[in-house]
This record gives sequence, C-alpha cells and structure tokens, in this order.
Amino acid sequence: MIMDKPFSQACENNKRPILEKLIPALAGSRQLLEIGSGTGQHAVFFAPRLPHLHWHTSDLLQNHAGINRWIDAFPAANLHRPLALDVNQCPWSVSVVDAVFTANTCHIMPWSAVEAMFAGLKKILAPRAVVVIYGPFKYRGRFTTESNARFDQWLKAGASHQGIRDIEAVTELACAVGLDLVADHSMPANNQLLVFNRALSE
Ligand SMILES: C[S@@+](CC[C@H](N)C(=O)[O-])C[C@H]1O[C@@H](n2cnc3c(N)ncnc32)[C@H](O)[C@@H]1O
Repeated sequence: MIMDKPFSQACENNKRPILEKLIPALAGSRQLLEIGSGTGQHAVFFAPRLPHLHWHTSDLLQNHAGINRWIDAFPAANLHRPLALDVNQCPWSVSVVDAVFTANTCHIMPWSAVEAMFAGLKKILAPRAVVVIYGPFKYRGRFTTESNARFDQWLKAGASHQGIRDIEAVTELACAVGLDLVADHSMPANNQLLVFNRALSE
C-alpha cells in the first residue's frame, strides 16, 4: 500500500509501454470495459490519456475499495467506478461495449474462468469491437524466456490452477467468439500485448 491506496510496481513500470499500444488500437473505441482492474492504477493512468472513450473499471468486489481510492485521488470525467464483475457469473451485468482491456488476468484465473471470460465477451461486444489482452504467454508450450518459465512454476506452486497460457489456446477461444488476432506485440518484462478485432458479421 502507498498511503491509503493499494500499489503495484508492475503497473507503474508497464503503464507507459501499454499506453503506446492502446492509443492506436483504441482510436475508434467509445465504451471500454476493463476486466480485473486490480489496484485501479492502470485505469487512472489510461482514462485521461484516452479522452475520446469512457473507461469502465470492473473487478471482484474485494478490489473495489482500492480502485475507488485511486479514482478518488485521480478522478477523470471519462473514468467510471468499478462494476462488480466475476467472469464466471453469467450473465454479466454489463452494457454492450466496443472495447475491452484486461491485463495480467489470464494466468491468474483458472482456465475455466478464461473460457467463461470469452463466453461472456461474446454477449457484450459490439460488432467491430476491439479486445486487448496484456500479460505473459507461451507459444506452443514454450516459454518466451527462462524467467517466464520460473514465474509459471512459482504461480503453480502458489495455486495449481494458475499458469502462463498458450497463445494458441487463447486465440482458439477468441476465434470461437468471432475475435481475430490482429496484433501480437512483444512488450518489456517478457509480456505480450494481444489485440483482437471482432469481425463485422459477428
Ligand atoms: C494479477 S491481478 C491484475 C490486476 C491488474 N489488471 C494489473 O495488471 O495489475 C489479476 C486480477 O484478476 C482479477 N480476477 C481474478 N479472477 C477473476 C474473475 N473470476 N473475474 C474477474 N476478475 C478476476 C483479480 O481480482 C485481479 O484484479
């Protein structure tokens, strides 16, 4: 905690490189849902720098107090208080959006929740919606770095349902709900930023 707010050093480190990719990816977006806002640090940094869209934070209830404290400290006209969203609980009480951002969630949630997240997305995404997913990933079972392999072991030792996911498996779930992978950016600290577009016809 810094003062009265939860604090993530990783968010401080990655927010600028992520913003660089979000600016072009979200240029045409108006209503964005962030899934798993965590501390709320990403939201308070991104929302005022993307003033053309509304940034709707969300997370499990246990994280709302912290997110609200960040929003209290750094309010913005287009930044919205957290929605209660557990991706496992369908249907989601969320309006249709044309953009979704989620960071560092796929390796934390059980795989069944990642599946539930994509099933939920199908119901709330407007045609031509953009989905941006940030975090560590593997390719065909291979880690991008030794340090990610160690991170995966550490995650599993703490909770066996956690682990770095295969991009191919995530892309398959995305494809099943009409989302095409249009960009895979390598990011600092061994992370990827994946951009998906929903086909117009879906
Ligand atoms: C490692 S934190 C990442 C937080 C933030 N996005 C970041 O990058 O710092 C994982 C987040 O996923 C959220 N989460 C885990 N399970 C979830 C679920 N079933 N539905 C929605 N969010 C979930 C957690 O509450 C937490 O905020």
